[in-house]
Amino acid sequence: MRIGHCVCDPSKPCPCDIFKEKNVCLCAGERLDAPTGEVRLTALVEKPGCASKIDQAFLKEVLKGLPVVEDPRVLVGVPAGDDAGIYDMGNDQALVQTVDVFTPSVDDPFVFGQIAAANSLSDVYAMGGRPMTALSVLGFPVRQIPDEAMHEILRGGIDKMKEAGVAIIGGHSINDGEIKAGFAVTGMIDKEKIVTNAGAQPGDVLILTKPLGTGIVAFAAQIGRVDQEASEAAAGAMTCLNKTASELMVQFGAHACTDVTGFSLLGHLTEMAMRSKVDAEIIWDDIPVFPGVLQYIAEGIFPGAIERNKESCGERVVAGDNVTEDMVDLCYDAQTSGGLLIAIADKDGEALLRRLHEEGLSEAAIIGGIRAPGSGYVFVKTNGKRVIPKGDKQMSESGEKSRKTFIKDGPKSISADEAPPAQACCGHDESACCAEATVESGSEVRTGTAAMKADFNAFLTRVGKPGALDACTKQAVNIALSVLAKCEPCLKAHIEKAKKMGFSQAEIEEAAWMGIAFGGSPVMMFYNKVTHS
Ligand code: CO
Ligand code: CO
Ligand code: CO
Repeated sequence: MRIGHCVCDPSKPCPCDIFKEKNVCLCAGERLDAPTGEVRLTALVEKPGCASKIDQAFLKEVLKGLPVVEDPRVLVGVPAGDDAGIYDMGNDQALVQTVDVFTPSVDDPFVFGQIAAANSLSDVYAMGGRPMTALSVLGFPVRQIPDEAMHEILRGGIDKMKEAGVAIIGGHSINDGEIKAGFAVTGMIDKEKIVTNAGAQPGDVLILTKPLGTGIVAFAAQIGRVDQEASEAAAGAMTCLNKTASELMVQFGAHACTDVTGFSLLGHLTEMAMRSKVDAEIIWDDIPVFPGVLQYIAEGIFPGAIERNKESCGERVVAGDNVTEDMVDLCYDAQTSGGLLIAIADKDGEALLRRLHEEGLSEAAIIGGIRAPGSGYVFVKTNGKRVIPKGDKQMSESGEKSRKTFIKDGPKSISADEAPPAQACCGHDESACCAEATVESGSEVRTGTAAMKADFNAFLTRVGKPGALDACTKQAVNIALSVLAKCEPCLKAHIEKAKKMGFSQAEIEEAAWMGIAFGGSPVMMFYNKVTHS
């Protein structure tokens, strides 16, 4: 490779990583060979599905103080926080517009394209609108994964849009580090028939048209714990259009509607309740869920988006008697292309439900109702009919139920089960530094030093477990302290564990530098020696 070719700095070789790794300078117009073969989309994604959505609390903070559009023709705008915007066309018709883009929640590019389309259309359906045209929005790592994948994503999108009777009339694509796909959708709506999320009335029943759990299933797939039945059921629901449900809820005179997506059932329901100035109630046992989801919950498989959703709306959620944290957490699961959540008068609810079932939406169910005027609280109750199966590793040593750990982003949001057993020390067998502390919990007679060792061991185990700090934060602390203590086996073991938990090299180094900052150059020399040996 000559000097002088690179547009970044012609006096030097190309500084780009691709040039260093593959001797190809993209900025000088050189091209990588296109990779070919099978792609597993979810494996390429850092934050699968709607988990890639920015959380509500953050969004509200950022949007604060921005100028508000003052236009009488805007019937539903940004401050309404509804599914789609609505603009008065001056006759009896109004324009409905929405855009939705996200990262893959399934492996198959064609299915992902279908889901992206169904999901984008869903916001128009949730308002009772008729989608007409769509523009595709696509981010794709060009030349890093087979071109075929992009082709298939678009083909899936076109297929689903065609089923919906929507014409794709353009689009925009960018070369992006991560696959993202979605659509900007435009539709029409009769001004008299707009269904917002603000019209729920006391006495209404709540109907949910699709099962919950797409986030949990996608996460189980990502960590290799999913079974086929669960992923097929979830994919089937995610590709299913909310068209029929929308038409029926308008026909039966629904008071309020929203689609359940990234903010979760509780996120969207608290929003509906708040804007409708009512309090709502859901019966956990009546909420439809995908096969396998209860088992995954029992095994502690909870994606990190659950915690973010809980932070956003948890203060408005009240768990009733016998409702466990796991039950409520299911209701915080971020959905991709989820069902419609409909509030409708009690007298019409059963009839609508029957029609939904007749139209093949067999999982649709009444999951609760609107209690009374209020300020947006949601009460979660159980009638004890449905139990979460016992998970293999549900009980920890102390007899307490082990809690999953949450991290803010995708791959590191691992459950306690997935987490390497978090210990303050580097692991019992391979390390010299804490071998002393190893006492089998089964050893019966403990006297003197043995008892002290046992206590210390128990202490170490307790300290290492996720608590106020999650497993990943503790692992970072472990790395920093191992460096500071100049314990080579500790450091190696903790770096290994951190990698398994999804730490990047940069994150590991940053943790190590915390220790180096305190210990100075002898510690830096130790760190360099260990990591370069
Ligand atoms: Co270059
Ligand atoms: Co360059
Ligand atoms: Co929506």
